[in-house]
Amino acid sequence: MTNPTTEASGDQPVAPILYFGNSPEERQQGVRRLVDLFYDEMDQNPHFDRIRKLHPSDLTHSREKFYLFLSGWLGGPDLYTPQFGHPRLRMRHMPFPISSEDRDQWLLCMVNALRAMALPEKVIQGLMLSFFRTADFMRNRPDPEGSAKSLNTISIKGE
Ligand code: HEM
Repeated sequence: MTNPTTEASGDQPVAPILYFGNSPEERQQGVRRLVDLFYDEMDQNPHFDRIRKLHPSDLTHSREKFYLFLSGWLGGPDLYTPQFGHPRLRMRHMPFPISSEDRDQWLLCMVNALRAMALPEKVIQGLMLSFFRTADFMRNRPDPEGSAKSLNTISIKGE
């Protein structure tokens, strides 16, 4: 899996920007904040209804699991694996139908959350590239016939 702290973030590594503070607890606050902004956006912005409906009505556990996972993924301590084992993200997402439209909604939630944290634009771009790769890998349903994305795929195949 791509590690965004070493790839795609150019000359600005993400870890020192998100992980600041004096104690381990303080240093985790940046990741907590990002997760909260991400799920608040999904929960409150009707534009994201489509992916909100895939999640449980109470987002407490979704927030906690995503926080535990992102901590390690963003270059901090791996808090997910000791509790839940290898992430196997694609397999764990199989029960949820994810098309290009769902992927794009997820990525928009994330970019809105990152922008709300006022991180440097270059860091946001690097992170979004890593998020895109992982989110794209999560797609497990074909796009509806006639959608712009499926037409695009057909024209690429036809080249
Ligand atoms: C492509 C669009 C995506 C959709 C629609 C989606 C949707 C979901 C849903 C519905 C859940 C279950 C929530 C729950 O049971 O509380 C979930 C879990 C999770 N997602 Fe995603 N997700 C997407 C992309 C991603 C990406 C890109 C990452 C990582 C960078 C990610 C990381 C996780 C993690 C760590 C969990 C918890 C897995 C577990 O232990 O059960 N997801 N996601």
